[in-house]
Amino acid sequence: MINQYTTLTSTYQACRIINGGWQLSEGHALQGKLNFTDVLKAFHQLVDAGFNTFDCADIYTGVEELIGEFVKQRTQITGKDDIQVHTKFVPDLSVLNQIDYNYVERIITRSLKRLNKERLDLVQFHWWDYAIPGCIDIAGYLVRLQEKGLIANLGTTNFDTKHLQQLVNAGYPLVSNQTQYSLLDRRPEKSMVDFCLKNNVKLLCYGALAGGFLSERWLNQPAPKTLENRSLVKYRLIIDDAVGWQGYQLLLQLLKNIGDQRGCSLSNVAVLYILHKKAVASAIIGTRSERHIHSNQTLFSTDITKSDIQQLDDFLNHYSVPTGEPFELERQHGGKHRNIMKMNLNDE
Ligand SMILES: NC(=O)c1ccc[n+]([C@@H]2O[C@H](COP(=O)([O-])OP(=O)(O)OC[C@H]3O[C@@H](n4cnc5c(N)ncnc54)[C@H](OP(=O)(O)O)[C@@H]3O)[C@@H](O)[C@H]2O)c1
Repeated sequence: MINQYTTLTSTYQACRIINGGWQLSEGHALQGKLNFTDVLKAFHQLVDAGFNTFDCADIYTGVEELIGEFVKQRTQITGKDDIQVHTKFVPDLSVLNQIDYNYVERIITRSLKRLNKERLDLVQFHWWDYAIPGCIDIAGYLVRLQEKGLIANLGTTNFDTKHLQQLVNAGYPLVSNQTQYSLLDRRPEKSMVDFCLKNNVKLLCYGALAGGFLSERWLNQPAPKTLENRSLVKYRLIIDDAVGWQGYQLLLQLLKNIGDQRGCSLSNVAVLYILHKKAVASAIIGTRSERHIHSNQTLFSTDITKSDIQQLDDFLNHYSVPTGEPFELERQHGGKHRNIMKMNLNDE
C-alpha cells in the first residue's frame, strides 16, 4: 500500500500526491473558464482529504496569488498554516546572462509575498540553457537565501543528470528534481534514477497522467485533430515519440485490465506505476476542480502488484523511450518540443 506522505529530508515530509498548479494558470488556456471560488472550495476539500502539498511556479501566471489567497483563508479558518508550497525559480531565458543576487532575491521575495508565506517549503531551480554560463553561481544565490531563512529546501526542475551532478559537486543542497517521468516517458531511467539513489535526491514527477491522456476518456478514441490545452499538445508529442497512437491505445487497454482486477481506474494504475519506481517520492497531479479528489484518494487504499508493473514494463519495452536525458528534447533548438514552450514569462 502506498503511504500518503513521503520523507524528503529528516525534517520535511511532503504528500506523495502533490496538487499541481499549472492547470490553473493563464498559460494552460483555461483562464476565463475556471471559477476561482470553486477552485478554492476544491482546495479546501483536497487539504481535508490529506493532500496539503501544492506545486506552482513563479511563471504560472496567477497561481502563486491563488494559492496565497488559499493560505490566507486556511489560516483564518484553522488558526494555522497547514499548507506546504513548492514553487519554482525560473528566470527568463532573455535575462539568464544578466542575473545577479538582487534579481534572485527579488523573485523569491515576490513569491513569498504572493503566497502569503514567511518561508518557502521548496524552491525548484530551472535553467533554460546550459550554454549560457552562470547556473552554478545563481544556484549559490538561492543557497544564500536559504541561509537567510527565506527557503526551507532547495531542489531543481528539468535538470539533466550531468548538471545535477555539477550542482551537487558545487555544494548545492539538492533535495529533489522535478522531472517528467511516466509510463510514456522513462527517460529518467537512463541515468538519473541511479544518480538520485547515490546522492539521496528524490524525484517529484509530472506527466504521470500525461495531462489527462492516461484516463478512460481517451480509451478507444481516434487520434484527435485539435487539442483543448497546451498540456495535451505537449503530451501528444511524447505519445508519438514513445508508443504512437496505436501503441497508446493498447497501453490504455492494458491499464484498464489491470485497474479492473485491482478495483481502481486506469489513471490510478498509471500513477501507482510511477509511485512504485525507484527514487520517486511523489507524483504531481494537475488539479483544477474537485472532480478527481475521490479517485486520487483511492491510490492509498488500493495497489498494483509487482507482476502488474512487470507486465507494463514488458509491454513498454517493445517501444521506444524518448531520446536523450529528461528535458533534452525540450532544449533542442528548432525542435518540436522546444517550439511549443514559452521561456520569458517571469517579468511579463
Ligand atoms: N516542471 C515542469 O516543467 C512541469 C511541467 C508540467 C507540469 N508540471 C507540474 O505538474 C503538475 C501536473 O501537470 P501534468 O502535466 O503532469 O498533468 P497531469 O497530472 O498528467 O494531468 C492532469 C490532468 O489529468 C486529469 N486527472 C487528474 N486526476 C485524474 C484522475 N484521478 N482520473 C482521471 N483523470 C485525472 C485532469 O484532467 P481534467 O481536469 O481534464 O479532468 C487533470 O487536469 C502541474 O500542475 C505542474 O505543477 C511541471
